[in-house]
Amino acid sequence: MTDLNRLQAELTVRAAAAKDSAELEALRVEALGKAGSVSELLKGLGKMSPDERREQGPLINGLRDAVAAAIAARKAELEAAELDARLAAEHVDLTLPAPPQRRGHVHPTMQTMDEMIAIFAEMGFALAEGPDIEDDFHNFTALNFPPKHPAREMHDTFWLPQDASGERKLLRTHTSPVQIRVMQRGANHDVPSWVASGQAPPIRVIVPGRVYRSDSDATHTPMFHQMEGLVIDRAIHMGHLKWTLETFCRRFFETEAVVTRFRPHHFPFTEPSAEMDVQCDRSGGSIKIGEGSDWLEILGGGMVHPNILRTCGLDPDEWQGFAFGLGVDRLGALKYGMPDLRDMFAGDVRWIEHYGFSAFAAPSPATGLS
Ligand code: PHE
Repeated sequence: MTDLNRLQAELTVRAAAAKDSAELEALRVEALGKAGSVSELLKGLGKMSPDERREQGPLINGLRDAVAAAIAARKAELEAAELDARLAAEHVDLTLPAPPQRRGHVHPTMQTMDEMIAIFAEMGFALAEGPDIEDDFHNFTALNFPPKHPAREMHDTFWLPQDASGERKLLRTHTSPVQIRVMQRGANHDVPSWVASGQAPPIRVIVPGRVYRSDSDATHTPMFHQMEGLVIDRAIHMGHLKWTLETFCRRFFETEAVVTRFRPHHFPFTEPSAEMDVQCDRSGGSIKIGEGSDWLEILGGGMVHPNILRTCGLDPDEWQGFAFGLGVDRLGALKYGMPDLRDMFAGDVRWIEHYGFSAFAAPSPATGLS
């Protein structure tokens, strides 16, 4: 066996046995690289005599072609094997169940709010909003709570620390301050644009929003939702208030069987004042309406006190009106049978998955009740 034959045998065997492309590349450099063993032989051709070259040239070139071919063949094999390995590792198992997709839910309070808005919108009410952080004037004084009067203690108020001007703001205890913001014409416009600004009567607005009181049990949470209603027009009386609320309840609970009762009450900003209860059954650990002998208070209301109208620049001899404040969460709890209001804001995903609503089916002011 000549040296050339031996070299060719060694290199082609090693090429065929290369484990991976790195080893094969090292072999290629060793044989065919600039200073490779085969390249050196090719360089040697230049120094040979013409006769020698004629004899050795085809042999050495043949060796180079054979080694190059062996390397190329192994390279193709390795690449195919690498592809096979990747395909095997990356294959998609279509028999596996898809991982569950968690879907968000509409909170029952927001669902309830949307339904209420749709009903009142149909009755011709417009929407108004006010800030959660209120001042004493809008939350109390303008609503006829005299200074230092115990009526202010009716609400367990969350007060904010004194600000630089010595004023103590508060988290509004009810949505009634927005009554003032709607009725007060031209006053206090250095407030965000979404806050209701004054309008001339006739007025017919609802005010959905969060309110805060330091209170916590099965029917009270420190933050809850109210919907204020305010109607100011000529010759408005208590009968309009009762009709509006009873009609609302029948539509909201989708039954004529709702039993309500008005109880005389006191609010500084309405005269006369009343609270309205809905008859329900709370015995079985859930709340059912249209049966039972329990009552759940769902709102306060009454005729707007003349002092409020005067504070807002309206003449009580010309304009009268009614106002009410509905408890949104309580209405939702009644309609959808949720026994404990505190669960509504506990942030437990299992609760929202059970009681929540699909975002796609929820009625909204835009789509109405379907
Ligand atoms: N703001 C009262 C409350 O939160 C409810 C109410 C609103 C009463 C409007 C009368 C008129 O208890």
